[in-house]
Amino acid sequence: MSVSKNKPISSLPSDWYTDDKFLKKEITQIFLKSWLLVGPEAQISNPGDCLFQSIVDQPIICVRQEDSSIKTFFNICRHRAGSFESKKSKNNYLVCKYHGWTYSTNGELKSPRGFNKSEIVLKELCLKSINTKIWKGLIFINFCDEPKSFSRIFNNVEKILAPYKLENFGFKKRVSYRIKSNWKVYLDNFLEGLHIPIVHPELNNVMDYSSYNTTLYKNFSVQSGKLDDYKSPYTQSSNNVAYYFTIFPNILFNIAPGRFQTNIIEPLNKNECIVHFDYFFDSVAQKEILKDIIFSDEIQKEDIFICEEVQKNLLSVGFEKGIISDKYEIGIKHFQDYIRNRIG
Ligand code: FES
Ligand SMILES: [Fe+2]
Repeated sequence: MSVSKNKPISSLPSDWYTDDKFLKKEITQIFLKSWLLVGPEAQISNPGDCLFQSIVDQPIICVRQEDSSIKTFFNICRHRAGSFESKKSKNNYLVCKYHGWTYSTNGELKSPRGFNKSEIVLKELCLKSINTKIWKGLIFINFCDEPKSFSRIFNNVEKILAPYKLENFGFKKRVSYRIKSNWKVYLDNFLEGLHIPIVHPELNNVMDYSSYNTTLYKNFSVQSGKLDDYKSPYTQSSNNVAYYFTIFPNILFNIAPGRFQTNIIEPLNKNECIVHFDYFFDSVAQKEILKDIIFSDEIQKEDIFICEEVQKNLLSVGFEKGIISDKYEIGIKHFQDYIRNRIG
């Protein structure tokens, strides 16, 4: 008698990771419509401080205002698309490096060099602003003019994170990795713990793999694993558990006792992504900080090696699509369903 088996869950077909048409849809239908993490607000603590970045090829500036709020603008001059360069605004003015138009840090055009003020309406030529939210000391932006409510997702994240008092953690350092894999290969890899005993022997040594667990929520998921009280490189705590949040589309929070780390995964092109690690610590000794950064870097290199190999194989005619374990890889299914729904 034949035993009937449930059909396994299929992963996204390989061309979703290798064909430009999918990345274009992901940019317009996901990234340009989602709340994206820029980085810690501690980088711009004084009025006039500016943070220049490019996010999915959109040049932006976050500027600390006189009233200590933060505004974000496109780093694009309204004259003829020049950009602003300086790290800090000059006497609280942003000066275009092309023809020298000058804007105040709240985006108002003040001096349109080469034009008579009677020729143009200054108010119509303000810097184009981008929706900005500050949450737990982190800057988030949304390129959409009418973005989905920030709190709809982050209120739920906040409820789970409340015991960790993230606001007490201080920003230490950013480390960025350029990786030769599609951004979703990196996310798929992050979203399961099945590879930990094989790919990360050191991590496996400090984590009780049998306790590894994934919980799914709307638009985010949380993986967790119990840390070994004696071997863990992190501060000892009554709750010696590591938590790995994935907030769609591309934000990760890695929480271990005394350490909070955010990761931002940004597509550069269909075959490459950049991953920014921002490290935050809660009154942990310098020696411990260094140890943690080195430990994370080792794990990251192990993941990069795997992701780059997988990307090469996805480009081969020898693979079309894989299957997903409904026990160990439900986080991947959750993420891939989200991608399919957004761009399918
Ligand atoms: S493009 Fe900025 S001043 Fe001309
Ligand atoms: Fe990994």
